[in-house]
Amino acid sequence: MPDDSAMMLAAGSVADAALTGLLQPRKTLPAKLFYDEEGCRLFGRITELPEYYLTRTELALLADVAPRVAGMVHEPAVLVEYGASDETKAEFLLRTSVFRAYVPIDVAVPQLEQMRARLLKRRPDLLVCTVPADFMDVAALPTEVPSLPRLGFFPGSTIGNLDPLEARRFLQAARGALGDRSWFLVGVDLRKDPAILLPAYDDAQGVTAAFNRNLLVRLNREAGADFDLGAFAHRADWNDDASRIEMHLVSLHDQLVHVAGQAIRFARDETIHTENSYKYAPEQFAALAEQAGWHSAELWTDPARLFSLHLLEPRRGP
Ligand code: AVJ
Repeated sequence: MPDDSAMMLAAGSVADAALTGLLQPRKTLPAKLFYDEEGCRLFGRITELPEYYLTRTELALLADVAPRVAGMVHEPAVLVEYGASDETKAEFLLRTSVFRAYVPIDVAVPQLEQMRARLLKRRPDLLVCTVPADFMDVAALPTEVPSLPRLGFFPGSTIGNLDPLEARRFLQAARGALGDRSWFLVGVDLRKDPAILLPAYDDAQGVTAAFNRNLLVRLNREAGADFDLGAFAHRADWNDDASRIEMHLVSLHDQLVHVAGQAIRFARDETIHTENSYKYAPEQFAALAEQAGWHSAELWTDPARLFSLHLLEPRRGP
């Protein structure tokens, strides 16, 4: 089998996932299809773009905040990272020596094994318990995870890819899996002027456009599709009511496309909605966390108020 295991989807399920979205009256594709090998490479380039402030702002914040978070967590503890394809961000926390064990959860099995090998060399004292799973599906941690206090970690504003209902379900499940002696550090992109948000999702070099269009390249290769790549344009919209950036692929003319033997008609200007990226004001995210059994105990933002880190603790009382 070709090594598209970054996503762990067999060819059939890529086609299934794509068709489910493309046969809706308003066409969509699931955002997790972005991350094949080329998609991961393009996302890496996005994180280095001048317009894409998220990654560098969060890294600077983390450097600052990690020792303070470690000071609030009861020692010794376990660090549980949701959607961990490398340990770069976790390292800020692991360096503090509060953590006996690290539990990275991700669908990408080869990446998990590479992390384990690197950490074994650098931190032979650290127990690494990999969990090969979609972070949305983890109701409980494996029994080999020590029964110590747990710090959940969900960086990158990946929570912004979930709609608020899914985000609440996820936070609730994490509350259950992490237990009563726990904290949860969540990286959340802040609601802000669309003049800053839009270029972050429609950069001058066209890297985000290539990232978006790569979905069609992937479907042509893995789902028996025949998309004409020149006939779809990248578009980023700010949806103020929903407080989210939307990415779309816009059909430039009427056309017929085939996916796994199914004919799909596109009208001119019709779009495939490929991603949502929700942006939360601090009090909006705190309210969502409250509904999911958490309480926002601390909030850190950078001086320009671009990005936020919420430290949640279990909500006590009613
Ligand atoms: C990795 C999901 C947080 O929504 O900002 C970057 C993905 N999409 N540019 C985001 C993404 C377009 C990114 N997340």
